[in-house]
Amino acid sequence: MIPFNLPHLTGKETEYIAEAILKNGKLSGNGEFTKRCQRFFTEKYGFKKCLLTTSCTDALEMAAMLCELKPGDEVIVPSYTFVSSALAFVREGAKIVFADSMSRNPNLDADRIEELITPRTKVIVPVHYAGVACDMDKIMEIAGRHHLIVVEDAAQAIDSYYKGKPLGTIGHLSAFSFHETKNIISGEGGLLGINDERFIRRAEILWEKGTNRAEFFRGEVNKYGWCDVGSSFLPSEMTAAFLWAQLESMEEIQSKRKMLWNEYYRLLKPLADQGRFTLPDIPDYATNNAHMFYLVYPNLEERTTMIKKLRDADILAVFHYLSLHSSPYYADKHDGRDLPQCDRYADCLVRLPLYFDLDIETVRHIAEIIAR
Ligand SMILES: Cc1ncc(COP(=O)(O)O)c(C=O)c1O
Repeated sequence: MIPFNLPHLTGKETEYIAEAILKNGKLSGNGEFTKRCQRFFTEKYGFKKCLLTTSCTDALEMAAMLCELKPGDEVIVPSYTFVSSALAFVREGAKIVFADSMSRNPNLDADRIEELITPRTKVIVPVHYAGVACDMDKIMEIAGRHHLIVVEDAAQAIDSYYKGKPLGTIGHLSAFSFHETKNIISGEGGLLGINDERFIRRAEILWEKGTNRAEFFRGEVNKYGWCDVGSSFLPSEMTAAFLWAQLESMEEIQSKRKMLWNEYYRLLKPLADQGRFTLPDIPDYATNNAHMFYLVYPNLEERTTMIKKLRDADILAVFHYLSLHSSPYYADKHDGRDLPQCDRYADCLVRLPLYFDLDIETVRHIAEIIAR
């Protein structure tokens, strides 16, 4: 069976994990490898500060805590996304106001955000689906006018850009994932990006179980104690050491993924031109980080037929999110608006195998099966 995803090892992971143990003598969090990874992100992309977390879900939870929501405050989230984009804010007592996607791609429709804003709206959560940017100028302009916080869900968006700006550095806060299905992995893992200085001190405290231990380790205070709420959001040095091996190989990983992605696109374009499906859409303002290759079929039946055809050929292709506004947990809390584009992507989108160790012949084979 050709899997949908296969985690890639660069070969340096175990060496760096051993180094964390034998040389640095530190396995808990916030050690040398954590600092090295965080420095990499701040220097390469220009965050004001970033903190490694144990998952993107944790980074989103930290972001939601930093927003200091009151019960009933409203947060605008696309319905076509992973549960965590909404769940992190639900845990803080927020009401989720679900936004529809665009017809051209699954990102939330920035032109229709304003109609969702009420006096209770506090946060907008743009999710950069497949690592392709939402229209951030429009979103930031609306947020600025209504004094809203923007939390970018950049789970899939590492090393991707909007008009030359790295995704995750545009909103006030952002969250990345290093789950094994992402381009750069550490098993489970994530990153909180902070672009607004007012959040930095509290973020460090939330990260370290509600204490100012990070300040203590830097020698800024002579004892540390309980200052705020928080949790154990920081990963161990083993996770950070693994991640460092991946970050060192980022260019190689990205260029191989882009090569495979481009081959899918080249081979499937003639079928898209015949109207069999639509290909991923990358607007002029966005780059492609080759996180995902997806097709959107005209209806559920045609998608189901294609998934079966691929499975019969030992190829695992998978659909993606189910609309959150009609999920068992949120359906009776949703305000009843139809979100037709989200439902269309839930029914019609299928993702093809894409991972570093996939070879170009296999991509050609998959495209051939799709063409039959
Ligand atoms: C858009 C989005 N947000 C958040 C997450 C959660 O990431 P993690 O598994 O690192 O918690 C995912 C996971 O795939 C995702 O796709």
